[in-house]
Amino acid sequence: MTRFHTVRISAVAASLAVLAACGGNAETEAEETVAAASGEPAVIEERQENYEAIGDAFKAIRGQLESGEPDFAAIEASATEINERAQRIPDYFPAGTSVDEGYDTEALAVIWEEPAEFETAAQNFIDASAQLVTVAASGDAAAVGEQAKEMGGTCKACHDKFRLETD
Ligand code: HEC
Repeated sequence: MTRFHTVRISAVAASLAVLAACGGNAETEAEETVAAASGEPAVIEERQENYEAIGDAFKAIRGQLESGEPDFAAIEASATEINERAQRIPDYFPAGTSVDEGYDTEALAVIWEEPAEFETAAQNFIDASAQLVTVAASGDAAAVGEQAKEMGGTCKACHDKFRLETD
């Protein structure tokens, strides 16, 4: 019993180390990296946390724009964080982690049925967030507002097609 637990935990730790070391190709590692308690691939929670952080950073940008006196350095930092997190999105979707597998996720099976479209949706977001970093450095509030809206459109475009509607 105790021995079983020890083995299991070190196996999870080892696969996490592999994941950290290669930083991609999550497919096989994710299957091994199963949260012991829930039986759910750990990658699902990781991608949800990534999206949460993206959402928080976007909220911070909107807050700055609505403040009347935007701190452009803060906007640029938030946009940079969003761009870095956007680039990780494709690694967070190993096969077998859709809502159809019974997991607590809003990832629709269409992500894997139309991988090129999903990749494009992610790339559009990466590009729009990179552009927001550039525009933030200009210190032009109207232009930043426009680009933030543009980037928000790439969130919505992906959600409309690839994320389960839950409300
Ligand atoms: C390439 C597709 C794609 C893009 C672009 C995208 N999302 Fe998502 N988002 C998803 C998917 C798929 C999920 C569901 C993930 C899951 O439940 O496993 C999700 C989930 C979320 C969640 C819920 C996370 C949770 O706790 O379950 C938030 C918040 C979110 N996205 C915000 C955003 C914001 C804000 C943007 C843009 C700034 C954005 N997303 C861009 C596909 C995308």
